Amino acid sequence: MTTVQSPAPEGRETWTSNRGFILAAIGSAVGLGNIWRFPGVAYEGGGGAFLIPYLIALVTAGIPILFLDYAVGHRFRAAAPLAFRRLWRKAEALGWFQTAILFVISTYYAVIIAWSLSYFYFSFGTKWGDDAQTFFLSDYLNVGDPGISTELVGGVAWPLIAVWVLIIVVLALGVAKGVEKLNVIGLPLLVIGFSALVIKALTLPGASDGLDALFTPNWGALTDLNVWIAAYSQIFFSMSIAFGIMISYASFQRRKANMTSSGLVVGFANSSFEILAGIGVFSTLGFMAHQQSIAEGTQVAVGDLEGITGPTLSFITFPQVISEMPGSTLFGALFFGSLSIAGFTSLISLVLGVSVAFQEKFGLSKTVAAVSVGVVSAFVSFALFATTTGLIALDTVDQFANNVGIVVSAIAMCVIVVWLSRTVETLRAHLNAVSTFKVGKWWIPVIGLYAPIFLGIMLIQKVYDLITEGYEGYPTWYVGVFGWGTVAFLVVFAGILTAIKWGGRDDPSFTPWPPVDAGNAPVRMTKEMTK
Ligand code: PHE
Repeated sequence: MTTVQSPAPEGRETWTSNRGFILAAIGSAVGLGNIWRFPGVAYEGGGGAFLIPYLIALVTAGIPILFLDYAVGHRFRAAAPLAFRRLWRKAEALGWFQTAILFVISTYYAVIIAWSLSYFYFSFGTKWGDDAQTFFLSDYLNVGDPGISTELVGGVAWPLIAVWVLIIVVLALGVAKGVEKLNVIGLPLLVIGFSALVIKALTLPGASDGLDALFTPNWGALTDLNVWIAAYSQIFFSMSIAFGIMISYASFQRRKANMTSSGLVVGFANSSFEILAGIGVFSTLGFMAHQQSIAEGTQVAVGDLEGITGPTLSFITFPQVISEMPGSTLFGALFFGSLSIAGFTSLISLVLGVSVAFQEKFGLSKTVAAVSVGVVSAFVSFALFATTTGLIALDTVDQFANNVGIVVSAIAMCVIVVWLSRTVETLRAHLNAVSTFKVGKWWIPVIGLYAPIFLGIMLIQKVYDLITEGYEGYPTWYVGVFGWGTVAFLVVFAGILTAIKWGGRDDPSFTPWPPVDAGNAPVRMTKEMTK
């Protein structure tokens, strides 16, 4: 054991314990992506066979890039822009690019939580009636053609106000008293509520057909590049990596904190929740096929059902099935309650990332940053996504921010760390100095070569498809404005915020700790390090 002198406590807020950090990180990871995205993606990507690309993506990109996020945040103790700047001066723009992605995602993610809250309320008495599709698209959202409408949808606007008020209050309370508390309360509730739902789903007639449909492997899918791409995108979104979120979460860890072991726990917990959601969702779909078979007098296979992913799954297919089941109110309340909580604990991480970035650059107080970032985001959220054209805008912006923005961010991060700033050894030594699970040399080629090359192929394929095929048959001008416009926004935002001066608040005296020549030796905990 080596003992290295820790620098004076810096007065940065911290999680109250490692457990608090792990819960918050799991809370960020487990979100809508787990519940409504994973089951459908897994099904379409070959069912049981999808687990292979999925696990490979987890091990070759998920965990290694999660470690990279942790290393940058924990060593440089700041949200993405300042953390990258401290790593390598020229990398600040990457931090703002990530912050821009967070901002964009938060504005529509909040709207989905607002829908979930409404539907939680509608569950009491299954207010969507017999035709859940018409109810969602017409009665509730009042969806129009792709275009720009300024007409607010009241049923969305009210719960959306509640969402943003809660987010601002939690952020203003701070990391320990706000964000951590929210997760300490929310996560157990989510696990209990969602497990109850899965148990109930498993007892429905037809559940086992649903599970067969999900888990029966279609090995042929493994030769399809798109299946691999889907596995990697799922891992990124689901684990909240390369967004800068895990950088800011790690920056609130104490200086001596077992980072890599926590990362393994977070990654494992997130994937377990995805599998659990797969089981719950597909048991329910099995029941749906069973009901339809009875109604139509012929065998309906789960594979013939439509609308098994994304908003359609949650807000059309599920309500439809729920109406037909015994105990529908309880089931509906558990489902939409889980969706709302899972969403909240993820949304808070998105907005925290943005708020801390601004707090640091402009020297704002925690409360001022929380309120101003919260109010601006809420405003955008209303203007773009709470209107009658909100659903279509949301779908388009999501496609571009996630499939293009985040992949660019991940590639840039790997290339900057390994090839441009050549700080990868330092980061590895940092992780190993503080953690019990040691990161071997394998990490370097994985994040330096494998990940950027694979992600590069993925990006080219995606951009090519979007250029040649457009998106969802929406008009070209529309995809231009909302889709490519989103990408342009990310770049411009990053450029402007990087260009603005730090105004002396960029404490050049910051010294990373521990000194890396402490090598791989574990660091002995001294009292002041825990501050
Ligand atoms: N990981 C979250 C999910 O699965 C989504 C998310 C992405 C949250 C990025 C924060 C940041 O839904």
